[in-house]
Amino acid sequence: MDRAEPPQSDGSSVAVLEYLRTLQCLVEAQRDVMLSYLSDRSGALPVADLGVVEPTNGSVEAGDRAWANGNGRDAIHSMPTPAADAVTSPIDVVPDDPPAPPAPDPPVTPTIPATTRRFVLEAETLAPALPVASLTGQNALVISDLWEGLDELCRRLTQAGAAVEVMATPRGARRRALPEHVATRLSAADVVVHLGAADIVSPVDAREVFATLQSAVTGRATTIVAAVAAHQDPDSTVVSGVGGLMRSIARELPDRHVRVVEVPPTLPSKVLARLLADEVLDPAGPASIRYRNGLRTTRRVTRGMPLREVPALPLNDGSVVVVTGGARGITARATIALARETGCRLELLGRTPLAVDEDPRIAAATHRTALRRALVETGEVANPPDVEAACDRILAGREVRSTLAALRDLGVSATYHPVDVRDADALGLVLAGIRARHGRIDAVIHGAGVVDDRLASDKTADRFHWVFATKVDAARTLLDHLDGDTRLVVFFGSVSGVFGNRGQVDYSAANDALDQLAVRLDGAHGRRIVSIDWGPWAGTGMVSPELEREYGRRGVGLIDPDDGVRALLAEMATLPGEPAQVVVMRAEPEALEGRPRTAPGTFATAGAAVHLDEHDPEQDAEHIERAGHPVSLEDVTEPG
Ligand SMILES: NC(=O)c1ccc[n+]([C@@H]2O[C@H](COP(=O)([O-])OP(=O)(O)OC[C@H]3O[C@@H](n4cnc5c(N)ncnc54)[C@H](OP(=O)(O)O)[C@@H]3O)[C@@H](O)[C@H]2O)c1
Repeated sequence: MDRAEPPQSDGSSVAVLEYLRTLQCLVEAQRDVMLSYLSDRSGALPVADLGVVEPTNGSVEAGDRAWANGNGRDAIHSMPTPAADAVTSPIDVVPDDPPAPPAPDPPVTPTIPATTRRFVLEAETLAPALPVASLTGQNALVISDLWEGLDELCRRLTQAGAAVEVMATPRGARRRALPEHVATRLSAADVVVHLGAADIVSPVDAREVFATLQSAVTGRATTIVAAVAAHQDPDSTVVSGVGGLMRSIARELPDRHVRVVEVPPTLPSKVLARLLADEVLDPAGPASIRYRNGLRTTRRVTRGMPLREVPALPLNDGSVVVVTGGARGITARATIALARETGCRLELLGRTPLAVDEDPRIAAATHRTALRRALVETGEVANPPDVEAACDRILAGREVRSTLAALRDLGVSATYHPVDVRDADALGLVLAGIRARHGRIDAVIHGAGVVDDRLASDKTADRFHWVFATKVDAARTLLDHLDGDTRLVVFFGSVSGVFGNRGQVDYSAANDALDQLAVRLDGAHGRRIVSIDWGPWAGTGMVSPELEREYGRRGVGLIDPDDGVRALLAEMATLPGEPAQVVVMRAEPEALEGRPRTAPGTFATAGAAVHLDEHDPEQDAEHIERAGHPVSLEDVTEPG
């Protein structure tokens, strides 16, 4: 049968059709890979390169919604292929009467909770590590600067059979590539232990640790362990985010022993050396271990409670609230609700310039598809990446203007500052200007964030820095510029930092660092600081019914924006001393954990769960013995 001729059209229509056809093919290919991956979570890690265009707009919203899949929109080009069909081994001896194979379990569809709930984190006590692994024939590389416990750690790893080498902590690796000989040593090591974030004097953060460990991730290492020590100054804004980084690496490399070990800064070095060696030599158990008050613990998201009614907020129409990222996305939703509730004066920060008038042909295109067509028809942009970038810019500008219009309609004062919050000087100037104008800053909501999802093996140090700095460097600048009048700070975090997530080493690290900041600084100077780790929100149609069904299959529901806003306002009304880190999601924690959950207390050796906010460094060394690690007197009296 003859194929029908396409209708005759002018050149621009042909260009539009060609463009749309290319785009449709890409979207269909992406969707197929995503769906096949989602339908087989046991899939191995090999990456399908679909040659998708570079992301032009790292939308956090899309990434977080996709996070339950272990993939974000921008990561699709690095998605795993579905596992190859299982290959069965030949059977040498067939029993006379082989038992019938058990019928496979029917697939269990987890139930999505009907409502969004608020969870807190608690420490679950674990049994001591069992250093059972043999490292015979393996190369171990310990990355550390001068540290008194180094000899002891190396001795223990050598005793386990490894050939041990020590390497000074690479610094500046996030700015320039590791020297080739260093990268080669890392890729050739079977065991890598990174102690740079536990350095008391000059710790490195997740950016540096990642830039170093990436060679181990792509290399042959079967064991990758990083140590972290909390900063000793309770007012310090130095945070590493290495916990989030390692939890995500563990999610990407489920067949390897990947672990982060958080230790008290005061622990005697010999004790620390032994604990670390034990953690290297015990691959069983969770990816996150924390020694605290003498106990070996891991973190659990627990005590899901219904969202509370919003009590009276400590803000009114005289208050000044600074909101980074407040003109777009879920933070804009929250900003409008806050204005409605309190009438406060708002200062919104974002990169998007307040655009001038749009070309009438562009202005008439009200949604992305029409916008693409209109852009191609103008002839100013043609290739898909440029068209997408232009769409992103135009839609972002419209979103900002629409948020400001909504605030104007509410009759509140709202000022928009186009500023990149990663630029500490520029952000400092904006904050100084706000203070000069209003004489006060009562509260800050830090909602700015970006995602750039791709597997750790495909990340570049620059892009990692972009994601990390947007959240963490900006949070530190904000905190550094606040005076005593600011009584409330809220960070928008993510479940990705809590549980780790494939494709999000940088984003998990950044959100984990925000959590660390909140937990450390909440209550200091009478200021309430809380980090809210959100699960994915439902939005304005960006989650297709198809994807929503896939989330549903994993038991992760989307947060209704009204619930999200209610949760935020309720948190803003809490006082210092309430948990500084909360998780708000419409899912059971098991749906987001990378391993089956054991019954609470299964591993318990002593005592009940301990709140993570509690900290008594003086007890740390003393109590190690109670946790089942007999410590000699010599060990505990040695200065740490
Ligand atoms: N949506 C979710 O489901 C979800 C779930 C968990 C956590 N979160 C968190 O909630 C926050 C908002 O997410 P979203 O989904 O609403 O994302 P979004 O729509 O992409 O909004 C991100 C916001 O951050 C601003 N921003 C990004 N980089 C910036 C920079 N360098 N300087 C100044 N502003 C910057 C953006 O404004 P410009 O583009 O104008 O700069 C925008 O307002 C993020 O912190 C995210 O981690 C969201």
